[in-house]
Amino acid sequence: MKVGVFDSGIGGLSVVKSLLEHQLFEEIIYYGDTARVPYGVKDKNTILRYSLDALEFFKNFDIDLLIVACNTVSAYALEEMREAAPFEVVGVVEAGALACKNAMNNTQSNILILGTKATVNSKAYENLLSSYAYENVSALATSLFVPIVEEELYESEVLQSTMRHYFKDIQTPDAIILGCTHFPLISAQISAYFDDKSKLIHSGEAIVEYLESKIKFAKKFPEPKLKFFASENPDALKAVAKKWLNL
Ligand code: DGL
Repeated sequence: MKVGVFDSGIGGLSVVKSLLEHQLFEEIIYYGDTARVPYGVKDKNTILRYSLDALEFFKNFDIDLLIVACNTVSAYALEEMREAAPFEVVGVVEAGALACKNAMNNTQSNILILGTKATVNSKAYENLLSSYAYENVSALATSLFVPIVEEELYESEVLQSTMRHYFKDIQTPDAIILGCTHFPLISAQISAYFDDKSKLIHSGEAIVEYLESKIKFAKKFPEPKLKFFASENPDALKAVAKKWLNL
């Protein structure tokens, strides 16, 4: 099976990492819209337009499935992309909410959603979690984490002070949904901030769990074909992919 993976930038590589670990696909085609990242501070119409542009890009390849490895796009543009696509399109929000449900039995659990401003404003996660009867759910827009990740400032004081700024009034949650695919790249730092006491829900692992529940994968592909594209500076994206995915 040949799969497309789309994100606004490099964050979707965290999803590719999970796909590679589970050896699900024969070929993976990645596209990051690095010329226009971040999406998470833009409005619905812009996110929709950019997402439909990305869909056109993937129409050049004979893919069987497109994974929208961006929570912001999944929250705002999934239906429209599905209507316009000649292949199946799956998003990370539904998968993430389901993974949270599978991981947290107690509906009284204190769940914190971290996402971009757009994802948080969409209430996409909150609506799904409330349909699963969770009562203690809160969401926090942490959009500044996106440029910090794009700049690869994982070990920086900038990240530490940004976390202090966003989390100063937050009690340690039982679970944190990393509702942006950029955030797994700083998951160790987020987890450490809360003394590693919160269960982290990661879009990449969530989508693997979701796909494995829907598709019968008969074969493993330990060495899939990988292609990386970006709307700007593809070499920079390839360099991050190499490092992050140990290629
Ligand atoms: N990686 C995207 C997400 O999952 C967001 C980054 C952006 O703001 O473009 O929401």
